[in-house]
Amino acid sequence: MSDDLEFSEAAVGHSEDCLNVVALSDKESHDLRAHPGQNLYQLLVGQGYSVENACGGRLTCGKCKVKIVNEAPEATIEELEVLTEKELNEGVRLACSVLVREGMEVVLENIKPEVKILGLEGNLDLPFCPRVSRFDFDWSPGTLNDQRDSLTRIQTAGSRQKFELSLNALKEIAALTAFDSKLPVGMVLYSQSELLGITDDPNCYGVAVDLGTTTIAASLINLTKGLPLETVTGLNNQKAYGGDVISRIHYTLHEKKGIETLQQSVTNDINNMIQSLCDKAGVSSSSVYEITVSGNTTMLHLLLGVQCGSIAVSPFIAGFTDAVRVKAREAGLNIHHEGYLLTLPAVSAYIGGDTVGAIQATRLFEAERSCLLVDIGTNGEIVLGNRDWMIACSAAAGPAFEGASIRHGTGGIEGAIDHVNLETEEIYTTIGQKKPLGICGSGIVDLVAQLKRFGLLEETGRMLGPDEIDELNLSKPLSERVSRIAGITAFMLDFEHGIYVNQRDIREVQLAKSAIRSGIEILIRHAGIMYEDIDKVYIAGGFGNYMSIESAAAIGLIPEELKHKCVPADNAALRGAAIVLMDENAAVMNGLHKEIRHIEMSCDPRFQELFMAFMAL
Ligand code: FES
Repeated sequence: MSDDLEFSEAAVGHSEDCLNVVALSDKESHDLRAHPGQNLYQLLVGQGYSVENACGGRLTCGKCKVKIVNEAPEATIEELEVLTEKELNEGVRLACSVLVREGMEVVLENIKPEVKILGLEGNLDLPFCPRVSRFDFDWSPGTLNDQRDSLTRIQTAGSRQKFELSLNALKEIAALTAFDSKLPVGMVLYSQSELLGITDDPNCYGVAVDLGTTTIAASLINLTKGLPLETVTGLNNQKAYGGDVISRIHYTLHEKKGIETLQQSVTNDINNMIQSLCDKAGVSSSSVYEITVSGNTTMLHLLLGVQCGSIAVSPFIAGFTDAVRVKAREAGLNIHHEGYLLTLPAVSAYIGGDTVGAIQATRLFEAERSCLLVDIGTNGEIVLGNRDWMIACSAAAGPAFEGASIRHGTGGIEGAIDHVNLETEEIYTTIGQKKPLGICGSGIVDLVAQLKRFGLLEETGRMLGPDEIDELNLSKPLSERVSRIAGITAFMLDFEHGIYVNQRDIREVQLAKSAIRSGIEILIRHAGIMYEDIDKVYIAGGFGNYMSIESAAAIGLIPEELKHKCVPADNAALRGAAIVLMDENAAVMNGLHKEIRHIEMSCDPRFQELFMAFMAL
């Protein structure tokens, strides 16, 4: 299947019970077998097509656009709401509202844009004490006078005590040593106690992974020298089964082999990234001996193929929160066959290994004065504490800051409107200076702050309509952007591409903002401290790092009093995974997660009141 498909009028022949999906960038078409009446979205996803979506086919996100070339079905109410007239006339429909019919011809809009994801920036100035270590040894083959077995001979040569080893490792070593006088000269140990194998590679390697719901970042690290080598980033292709963790869990509960499908999807992604890291660095994936993974609790369950249905329903119980160490091959990951996969521990169902990784990266547990860590995503994870105590909560912000619940919203991809300034002639910039595709989280935070500043938005979040703005003395080009579209007040960002933000989008932003801000306030109140007691505010995660702190404070996402204390924490979850890979004594692997007190926001009697108060802009 091509990566880069576009709408086209091409069509292919079809037989009676066959649905033809036309994939066109390389002029190919693919005939898919479908049952008459089957849901088109389910068919496409089941056949491995990556269909844009945020709701996993539940007809709530309006993102799964496809073009029906021949006789598009009558548009549904949902489609009339989210598709433009032009799209409707061209036969564009939402895949999850279309039932397959015989001979239907469908063209997918399946652009795989470049995603802006933070990697492992800068050098890692860390204690270096990896679990994986390599030792040279001098091999001398047996003689009639020295009939010690090969394993004893290796262990003696390495001046080590007895090691544990798996049957596979024993078989490999016995085969290599059977008749050969020239052996690889390095032995690779795990935690100084398990012999993983013998090697002629002078170095051994590990991979640190930040497994996000939307994106994945992975770094290759030389574990002999303690050097990060390469980082690659990409999309989590589980996205085809739902944009957020709830949709994915829903998929595992309602589809036969749903967990297996999602596990396979993510292991494929990670395997491809490992291969690409190794290709870039010119090393063999069989020289990679450990993978450490930070990720939210659901992602870690899905990586291991573990049932996670109870995470989605009250009282939100995870299957596991401790770190899990298994042979990587058991999870389907392709590194050295005896290598390990180690997941970072989590605090609870919604405070995952990514937050724990960020705690490790920011060293919150060593801070003399209290610090705040805020990771803004679909769930905002917030941690407050210092070297004596830590408390954490998870705020269900919804997908507004990731663009999913915004009419023309998009993730942090090339072409996303990432910053807005209504005072300049060009009122926005896009990632990669590409043609605008939609607005991402940092752009929408800017826009809301600016609309408020220009008086176009009331404190309640109500947008002023075109007939209410005369007194604002706006410039003509600015006032022309205020309009009503389909009866709803909207601000037009780009006339040519029809990208606007409307009143409903502003409400979504208010909800997301209020959830996160309420979380911050609840933790501060639980701790019984004041803003001035907080030394630093670490802003973690992709969106947080690109967001303007000024704008975030202007809309009340971050308290005004704390804005000058904000520090970007880059990709703290990936950094945390890298630290765990490079240092077997990393604090978060020693039970620290059990000492972090989880505060359930919905149980706090102040939550409703705070949530209502912080809806204001
Ligand atoms: S509306 Fe179809 S996947 Fe969301």
